[in-house]
Amino acid sequence: MTKLVTIQLLLASWSCLAVLAQAKSIDSPIDFTTDNDNAIAKDVDTDPFDSCQIYCTGDLLHTIQTAVPKIFDDSKTFVDMKLNFPPAKTLTDFEALMDAKNRTPSRDDLIEFVNKYFSPKGTELELWTPTDWKENPSFLDLIPDPDLKQWGMELNNIWKDLGRKMKDDVLKNPEYYSIIPVPNPVIIPGGRFIEFYYWDSYWIIRGLLYSDMHDTARGMIENFMSIVKRIGFIPNGGRVYYHGRSQPPLLTGMVKSYVDFTNDDLFAINALEVLEHEYEYFVNNHAVQVKGHNLTVYRDSSTGPRPESYREDVETGEKFATEDAREDHYSELKSAAESGMDFSSRWFINENGTNEGNLTHLKTRSIVPVDLNAFLYWNAKLIAEFHAKAGNVEKVTEYENKAQKLLLGIQEVLWNEEAGCWLDYDMINQKPRNYFVATNLSPLWVKAFNISDTEKISKSVLNYIAVNKLDSFAGGVPNTLSNTGEQWDFPNVWAPMQYIVVEGLNNLNTPEAKNLSKSWAMRWVKSNFKAYSDDFHMYEKYNAEKFGGHGSGGEYGVQTGFGWSNGVIIEWLAKHGRELDNGGGRGGAAASRVMSLVGVAAVTIVALIAGRVLW
Ligand SMILES: *[C@@H]1O[C@H](CO)[C@@H](O)[C@H](O)[C@H]1NC(C)=O
Ligand SMILES: *[C@@H]1O[C@H](CO)[C@@H](O)[C@H](O)[C@H]1NC(C)=O
Ligand SMILES: *[C@@H]1O[C@H](CO)[C@@H](O)[C@H](O)[C@H]1NC(C)=O
Ligand SMILES: *[C@@H]1O[C@H](CO)[C@@H](O)[C@H](O)[C@H]1NC(C)=O
Ligand SMILES: *[C@@H]1O[C@H](CO)[C@@H](O)[C@H](O)[C@H]1NC(C)=O
Repeated sequence: MTKLVTIQLLLASWSCLAVLAQAKSIDSPIDFTTDNDNAIAKDVDTDPFDSCQIYCTGDLLHTIQTAVPKIFDDSKTFVDMKLNFPPAKTLTDFEALMDAKNRTPSRDDLIEFVNKYFSPKGTELELWTPTDWKENPSFLDLIPDPDLKQWGMELNNIWKDLGRKMKDDVLKNPEYYSIIPVPNPVIIPGGRFIEFYYWDSYWIIRGLLYSDMHDTARGMIENFMSIVKRIGFIPNGGRVYYHGRSQPPLLTGMVKSYVDFTNDDLFAINALEVLEHEYEYFVNNHAVQVKGHNLTVYRDSSTGPRPESYREDVETGEKFATEDAREDHYSELKSAAESGMDFSSRWFINENGTNEGNLTHLKTRSIVPVDLNAFLYWNAKLIAEFHAKAGNVEKVTEYENKAQKLLLGIQEVLWNEEAGCWLDYDMINQKPRNYFVATNLSPLWVKAFNISDTEKISKSVLNYIAVNKLDSFAGGVPNTLSNTGEQWDFPNVWAPMQYIVVEGLNNLNTPEAKNLSKSWAMRWVKSNFKAYSDDFHMYEKYNAEKFGGHGSGGEYGVQTGFGWSNGVIIEWLAKHGRELDNGGGRGGAAASRVMSLVGVAAVTIVALIAGRVLW
């Protein structure tokens, strides 16, 4: 555990670079004793956080990001820009500017400074055509319908648009960049997200595997392993300013996917040291005790606003009277970002214990989330499974025990007999949160339930689905049923959540659950196809109320691309293609069925946009 303690210290003292350097020299995050890709890791083994003094905290960041009127439409733009001079010179010269301008530089002074000291966003990356990209991947053979097959080909083409490679200079001079150096090229989500994201990559990698691109998939997994070796865990995305938070831990699941496709057991066995390390990191840094069980919450370990949404966080922070209360608010925001669901009423706890409110009600750290605990259970089971391949009986027992303890906690704290489903748990009011969130069904996906109870759980969960009328939405199962204007609330539908729910029902393996699973998978594919047919875009999120409608709301504009949406569709075209036709083209009967909803949805979207400042 001493290594993990070191990492915690290291994270806690991030702004103090002297301490950081010392900690690193005493004890690197992980021993590389058995690793064959040690050489790759060493290539990029410079301190990946030198540039944090520019991009994570400090006067320069604060002054630029809070300039009035704002300098950048999207706060993320500034922290993605490359430095033209070393961080130390940049800071010294900025201090000189501040002194010369009586600490109140004008907006023009700041723009001039940015233009001299920074280069535009994206200059560290080049477009990259994956070397293993194939014109006719085998999944296309599983789609008889010519329109859907054509769509599959176009989705396969999009991998080439989303491929990015770091320029050599990033590896040579990482302190000039906010991007975290990794050895292999990546597939990015798209839109404003031009670097890798942790949990997005799970669905991207599955899409790549279905597209016969095993090398690209493996390269991305190796990147993550290299990051765990260097810094102990995987940040939210590939930027230094994400240093205090991770995302739902799915690296072990990525390795499992890769091994399922390639039968390369040795890959899993060689990954074990890193996977165990990531697991222990997560459990140790996110632990809570509830009703005598050790469970986990999403929790960030840095200070200050989110650098990439600095202005927005400072604005909501203004509601709080004290510095401590503001700091707590920033932590709640970043912890919600760690969950991947930034933002959602899922993380609101009002004074009266309900989920009503706004971002000032975020209490992410006090809510025990169903998904995180289910995912960690899955990680422990998979680590045990990989150890079994290696014949390491003791380790199998160790990780089976960890999994069983988590399962007991999930059953006793998160399963809710009355609701007939799992529910997040509110530690402040010591009660379950009886609100629908797609992740309430996530234990089905990773089989984090007692298999002997399958029949009972299937009945309960199908009843829960009926009570919440989840089958009534033409555009897929919404993430929640609360319409707050936040992007992870109604009516938005997200590919990963659709995937978790659909694959979860399929895993239940009862005829009724499998039936619903297939019906929802097909509805999702057809609705995405309709949206694509309208404007040839794949979206970050979609609209539950509108067949073929895309999502909106939250902090930034509509994003297209889009990695995880493409991954899920490719997988379901492969799995269900034989039974799918496009219903007479461009939506067909199903589309006319929901035409009456379209008007309502359009009004909702206009209202949402009118009510929020996008970009
Ligand atoms: C929970 O964790 C604590 C501290 O690591 C440990 O002492 C305790 O035995 C654990 N409880 C359970 C139920 O596993
Ligand atoms: C909780 O408080 C909100 C306002 O803060 C109010 O709109 C809502 O009706 C209250 N709910 C309950 C159940 O008291
Ligand atoms: C959020 O809720 C608080 C408390 O109810 C309220 O004071 C504040 O005005 C709300 N903020 C916004 C942006 O609606
Ligand atoms: C699973 O269910 C069976 C049958 O109800 C029960 O005997 C067993 O103890 C359960 N296991 C766990 C871990 O709850
Ligand atoms: C499967 O779903 C269809 C409608 O989608 C329904 O007609 C049929 O009865 C269902 N079968 C089962 C076993 O639930």
